[in-house]
Amino acid sequence: MPVGVQEEDMPTVGEPIADRVSKVEQFESIVGYDDVKRLFNMSLSSEKPVHILLVGPPASAKTLFMLECMKLERSYFTLGSHSTKSGMIDYLFEKRPRYLIVDEIEHMPMKDQTALLSLMETGIVSETKYQRTRNTQLKTWVFATSNGTDRMLTPLLSRFVVLHFKQYSFGSFQEVCTHILSREGVPSEVGNAIADAVWTKLKSRDIRDCIKLGRLAKTKADVDWIAQTMKTYKG
Ligand SMILES: Nc1ncnc2c1ncn2[C@@H]1O[C@H](COP(=O)(O)OP(=O)(O)OP(=O)(O)O)[C@@H](O)[C@H]1O
Ligand SMILES: [Mg+2]
Repeated sequence: MPVGVQEEDMPTVGEPIADRVSKVEQFESIVGYDDVKRLFNMSLSSEKPVHILLVGPPASAKTLFMLECMKLERSYFTLGSHSTKSGMIDYLFEKRPRYLIVDEIEHMPMKDQTALLSLMETGIVSETKYQRTRNTQLKTWVFATSNGTDRMLTPLLSRFVVLHFKQYSFGSFQEVCTHILSREGVPSEVGNAIADAVWTKLKSRDIRDCIKLGRLAKTKADVDWIAQTMKTYKG
């Protein structure tokens, strides 16, 4: 067995694949994106890692996908801006995660992105510190998000299946808005009025604005008044 490889990372002869894979069946917190959900589950069913990067505008459910993946056993979540090379590498050596989830990977320092190159391609993690080198081999899927790809290394990008989320159309915006507000107990007619006001009056495409209004407004009249006030004080 190669150095550092643990038995749990090696496929067992005769073991049916279906018994080894994990799945996030429903991605239930996310409205729509059925095709993306299916692709994630295909990646999770794959015998060898297939890494997925979600790129897209603010509030397009990228982090929600990462949060759903955190439900998987042996997953590790890290924020690109908070990761440090040694922190992440120590973690990889110690915990041997099967799923590494990196939110906002574009903020990850270049040296950390470099460390991911080898992990994603070969599963090998190697570190030289105080003239001593340690190596290990993992079987790790990497799921990540980013607002853009400009700050990412080209070889890193090429190791991912990259999915570009588009800005919501009004129809999807309204559907997402009413869905999440109904979970917060907002009646559908108020939810619809909020989607309308945010989209047309505030000219915002940000679902987070719908949530703010939904928590403030009790009635449709409230919606109009709050939207008007937000418009008056818009920067
Ligand atoms: N398709 C969706 N289903 C459910 N909730 C959604 C959806 N799209 C957006 N939201 C809501 O919008 C908010 C932002 O979602 P999320 O944090 O996943 O966005 P993001 O794409 O990571 O944005 P950012 O680039 O700003 O980090 C969440 O509170 C979520 O409830
Ligand atoms: Mg996010």
